[in-house]
Amino acid sequence: MKIAVLASGRGSNLQALIDEWLEGSLPVEFMGVGSDQIKAQALLRAEKVGIPTRAFPRENYPDKQAQEDDILNWLEELGVELLVLAGYMRILSPYFIRRAECLIVNIHPSLLPAFPGLNAQRQALEYGVKVSGCTVHFVDEGMDTGPIIMQEAVPVYEEDTVETLSQRILQVEHKIYPEAIRLIALGKVECQGRKVTIKRHS
Ligand code: GAR
Repeated sequence: MKIAVLASGRGSNLQALIDEWLEGSLPVEFMGVGSDQIKAQALLRAEKVGIPTRAFPRENYPDKQAQEDDILNWLEELGVELLVLAGYMRILSPYFIRRAECLIVNIHPSLLPAFPGLNAQRQALEYGVKVSGCTVHFVDEGMDTGPIIMQEAVPVYEEDTVETLSQRILQVEHKIYPEAIRLIALGKVECQGRKVTIKRHS
């Protein structure tokens, strides 16, 4: 399966995917890594292993649609079948979602539908939940509302800070994102309406 990744920053989730791919356990072809931030560490991580990169900095475009058109053309040129959002911090518009010809997945650092949007870990701590986690989901036109593919929980401790909770969640993200993408690439993930079924043993 031909995939591309969009990431805005550190790129540790991208790195988890690259590591599994280098080990031969992620049956995908990395067509490209893109970012809205020229200096994103994610771009360097991709370059290091020879994956083509592209930056789509906001200041290069008159408006959001022009930026999204550029990303859509890039995806089409590369023949991308699955777009992986890995810490991409710009919301894709309904226009983008409707025009994109590939599947789109995202990872979010909470147990959706709790705490969508920005600063999910802070939201969880401020709410006082005892359990949080992360969610891999298909992207639809809403904010973190698409069909849920995989989730994993982590405990929230009384002494947690945003940093300690984020780190605990991140470790689980690095496990379930490659696993979800592997299952999609193997054709084992089916989506009907909101319900996602994973055929692990067929
Ligand atoms: C991850 O925790 C990811 O779940 C989150 O940003 C971080 C990116 O880290 N994404 C969102 O909050 C999306 N709303 P990374 O750049 O090291 O992969």
